[in-house]
Amino acid sequence: MKLSQEQMARFDQEGFLFFPDWFSSDEANLLLEEAALVYGLDRKEVVRETSGVARTAFAAHTYNEAFSRLGCHPRLIDPVVQILDEAVYMHQYKVNAKAAFDGEVWQWHQDFGTWHRDDEMPEPRAMNIAVFLDDVTPANGPLLFIPRSHKRGTLPAGHDIQTTSYPLWTLDRDVVSELACAGGIEAPVGKAGGVVMFNSNLVHASPPNISPFGRTIVYLSLCAVSNHIRRYHRAEYIAHRDFTPIEPLADDCLMQLVAERQLSKAS
Ligand code: SIN
Ligand code: MN
Repeated sequence: MKLSQEQMARFDQEGFLFFPDWFSSDEANLLLEEAALVYGLDRKEVVRETSGVARTAFAAHTYNEAFSRLGCHPRLIDPVVQILDEAVYMHQYKVNAKAAFDGEVWQWHQDFGTWHRDDEMPEPRAMNIAVFLDDVTPANGPLLFIPRSHKRGTLPAGHDIQTTSYPLWTLDRDVVSELACAGGIEAPVGKAGGVVMFNSNLVHASPPNISPFGRTIVYLSLCAVSNHIRRYHRAEYIAHRDFTPIEPLADDCLMQLVAERQLSKAS
C-alpha cells in the first residue's frame, strides 16, 4: 500500500497523517480482546497508573501472537519504510490503555527527544504509527498534535519523573504556548481501526480520560536500521536492541487469526 505524492507532501508539511478505517472492525476487535488479556498479566512490561489500572503494555509483540503479527503488518510497515526510505526495526512497541475514568495524562513532548536523550538514537529517522483499538472521541483522551511543530527540530525539554508512572522528557509551557498559537492543536478522532502516523519531532500530548469509555491505542515506534540506538540504558523491553529489519507479513495475517479464533469458539 503506497502513499500518494500528495500524502507524502502533507506528511512533510503537517507532520502527521490520519487514515480512518485502515483496519476492519474484526481486526480491531481481535486486538482489543488481546489487549484485555495482556493487561491482566502480571509482567514487568505492563506499567500501571498510580490507581493500579494498566497504563501501557510494552513489547506486547514479543509475548502475544496477535500483537506480534500487527508488528509486521504491511499496512503499518510499508508506509513508514516509504517515508524513511530504508528498512526499519522495532525500537519500541506499546499498547496504551488510557482506561475509562482512570487513564492519566501524557504530557507535551516529542518522541525523538526521549529516544535521543535516553537511547542515543542519532537522528529523527524514526516515527510512530498508531492503531486505534477503541473509538477515539474528543471525550476519551485523544492524541493532541501541534501541526507543523516538527519543523522546529528537537526542542529543549526537562525530564519529568513525577507527573505519571512513566518518565518522559517534556516541553515547557512557554514553548507549547508559542507553538500552539502559531499552529493550533488538532485531535484526530475516529472509529476503532483508524491509524495515525506522525513525525518523531511532532509535539503531542493527551489529556486524562475522564469518560466511561476506554481509549486503547497501539504504537509501533519504527526506526531506520542504520539509525539504531547507541546506548542501552533503558530496559530492553522499553528500548529494543534487536535491529533486524522487519519483513512484512501478508495483508490478511490478522484475519487468519480471527478465522482461527472463530473456528475454535465454534468447536
Ligand atoms: C505517547 O505519546 O507516547 C502516548 C500518548 C497517548 O497514548 O496518549
Ligand atoms: Mn509520544
